[in-house]
Amino acid sequence: MADNTRALMEELLAEMEERRKAVELGGGPERIRKQHEGGKMTARERIDYLLDEGSFVELMPFAEHLETGLMAGVEAPADGVVTGYGKIAGRTVFVFSQDFTVLGGSLGKTHGQKIARTMDMAVKVGAPIIGLNDSAGARIQEGVDSLSGYGEVFYRNAIYSGVVPQISAILGPCAGGAVYSPALTDFVLMSKGTSYMFITGPEVIKSVTREEVSFEQLGGSEVHTARSGVAHLEAEGDEAVLDLIKQLLSYLPQNAKERPPLVPNGDPIDRQTPELLEMVNPDPKKPYNMHEVIKTLLDGGEFLEIQPAYAKNMITGFGRLGGQSVGVVANNPRFMAGALDINASDKAARFIRTCDCFNVPILTLVDVTGFLPGVGQEHQGIIRHGAKMLYAYAEATVPKITLITRKSYGGAYLAMNSKDMGADVVLAWPTGAVAVMGAEGAANIIYRRQIQSSPDPAATRAAKIEEYKKAFDNPYVAAGRGYIDDVIDPADTRRLLALHLEMLTTKQEERPYKKHGNIPL
Ligand code: HXC
Repeated sequence: MADNTRALMEELLAEMEERRKAVELGGGPERIRKQHEGGKMTARERIDYLLDEGSFVELMPFAEHLETGLMAGVEAPADGVVTGYGKIAGRTVFVFSQDFTVLGGSLGKTHGQKIARTMDMAVKVGAPIIGLNDSAGARIQEGVDSLSGYGEVFYRNAIYSGVVPQISAILGPCAGGAVYSPALTDFVLMSKGTSYMFITGPEVIKSVTREEVSFEQLGGSEVHTARSGVAHLEAEGDEAVLDLIKQLLSYLPQNAKERPPLVPNGDPIDRQTPELLEMVNPDPKKPYNMHEVIKTLLDGGEFLEIQPAYAKNMITGFGRLGGQSVGVVANNPRFMAGALDINASDKAARFIRTCDCFNVPILTLVDVTGFLPGVGQEHQGIIRHGAKMLYAYAEATVPKITLITRKSYGGAYLAMNSKDMGADVVLAWPTGAVAVMGAEGAANIIYRRQIQSSPDPAATRAAKIEEYKKAFDNPYVAAGRGYIDDVIDPADTRRLLALHLEMLTTKQEERPYKKHGNIPL
């Protein structure tokens, strides 16, 4: 009897193993070969590379489609998506990885439900959700059921926004309405040359607008990281993209109730930074390398820039001070003199809100002439877009420290996290200057009559500019009013920033009750 039981059980186990193997083979060796030939890993290889070795636990491998629509008799192992959880650097994450070898990774109802359930689990346990996208979009054979599958995912992307970090890697096609799932997540990363995102493809575009464009030109990683701002980071090949995900997660907490992990790297917190004295020219017309300033201040010079190719007049990214994660927002005087335009405002506002969602303190470095003048900017709504930055800073309750490195003028002074807009600590270097506008523009306006009626207008103008500079083009007027907490030695900046950050660790700030705010969009 016992022998019989054993034999029966072994039969069942063999069947289970056979079924599992079939599922693990996805669309089969031929399609896997094609996937590799295209320079892409398979869905399972990506998961194995992303997660700590041996940590992946698959859920729902035997899920099947519902045979609806034109799907009767169609084989679709795991319904074209591998789902489950595992660890990255010892921390739990949930992951779904679309399998392009199975019906082009197309999304049907079951495929959508697998993703949705994985997201539900991630939120229940408070862990990030990572989506590895490689899909031909809605599964045509399933009709409206596949659209419903997408709906389940989009809905969760939105309601789980700000609850746990959501990261999307685009590692193949991502077309049609499918792009809206990644677009709703916190970070979108793309592989160079092997991924693309668009709402309507080249064929449809050609028939509607007669424009001829390739997949890459329409929605490749360069387009979305440098021009549209849809994607945050790009890298060469699947492995490099997956490495970036790991790096990104190291700066983030598991969920909105936690803080980012403390990762000290031995860089002394009181390290002096005398190199800054030579880096920043006091002449406001001489640009300098703000990236170098940022790296000098952060632990080990490590800075993960977010959206490095988009709106280069604004720098955003993650680093650490004394092991504590910080989000850096900085003007870049090398591009458009660091002026704020529409794209820079959008980029900064989004980043500030991401930091605030996930309890990452914000360090703002200011060197800004103002909002960018121009008919184009005005007509495209710089008022509405600039307002996003003001809103995002004011709304953020994480520790907020501002350092004015050089000029800080006008509305941009307020938009770059000034004291009145809610900064906790504002510091300035002696090169800092806070004013309504630059000395030349100001003198032309307030002394126009005197300049025009003077026997020597040029000399009078120069004298008035000097007069204005003396009065306002320095940090001491603002410091005198308490808008700046202290004027500091650049060489002592890292130590002081770290001290302020540590002091602010226990910061608590309440906001009045509301259902939710209404950020200008
Ligand atoms: C079901 C699909 C499919 C789809 C491709 N396949 N697209 N199956 N639904 N949408 C299948 C193919 O029949 C093929 O099966 C396999 O996937 C691989 O496709 P290929 O065309 O051979 O691959 P490739 O040459 O690499 O081209 C990839 C592609 C192309 C560019 C993505 O397949 C394509 O254009 N597909 C249609 C994309 C699309 O229009 N999707 C709908 C978008 S609208 P076999 O068995 O031969 O391997 C949308 C709306 C979402 O997504 C709305 C959400 C609200």
